[in-house]
Amino acid sequence: MKQLMEKIIITESELKERIAALGLQITKDYQDKPLVIVSILKGSFIFTSDLIRQIQLPLTVDFMAVSSYGNATQSTGVVKIIKDLDKSIEGKHILIVEDIIDSGLTLTYLKEILSARGTASIKICTLLDKPAHRKEKVAIDYVGFEVPDEFIVGYGIDYAEQYRNLPYIGILKREVYEK
Ligand code: IMP
Ligand code: MG
Repeated sequence: MKQLMEKIIITESELKERIAALGLQITKDYQDKPLVIVSILKGSFIFTSDLIRQIQLPLTVDFMAVSSYGNATQSTGVVKIIKDLDKSIEGKHILIVEDIIDSGLTLTYLKEILSARGTASIKICTLLDKPAHRKEKVAIDYVGFEVPDEFIVGYGIDYAEQYRNLPYIGILKREVYEK
């Protein structure tokens, strides 16, 4: 698969090291606050599974799926709930775990609908932050890495449902998605 990559920008060991640091920080910040991890499918499933094993606190995990990109590489701004949470989050401390924040539209919308459910607090943890064309200003509490304005895949993040299984984060060659 490496031949489809323009460049590997974050290696497997860099991911591991950074996620351990994020887990430690979250562990410190949520002492005495029962934590609910809200993982945004599908892109953040690998990040979530590695991150929660670095958090030394009691916690629960719930999943939500929203539509954003389809198969295109540009955000449409249309966000739809495809799968909602299983459990009520009223009175809970929520940490939203996302794969990548680009325009910020998805997270702005999600934070609004989740806080309307009467949560005690909501914070955001994203593995990747792509600030180049942010449309909605969104406060991000934990960021793994800032990435350039390129189309990124790997470690859970897809292009047309492919490449989620790459153990690293890379930039796909243009010819792969401009075919
Ligand atoms: P936003 O609403 O523009 O912030 O988009 C966030 C969502 O778009 C992410 O959760 C990803 O699913 C998707 N996305 C944004 N940038 C990329 C990328 O470079 N590669 C793959 N998916 C992306
Ligand atoms: Mg996503």
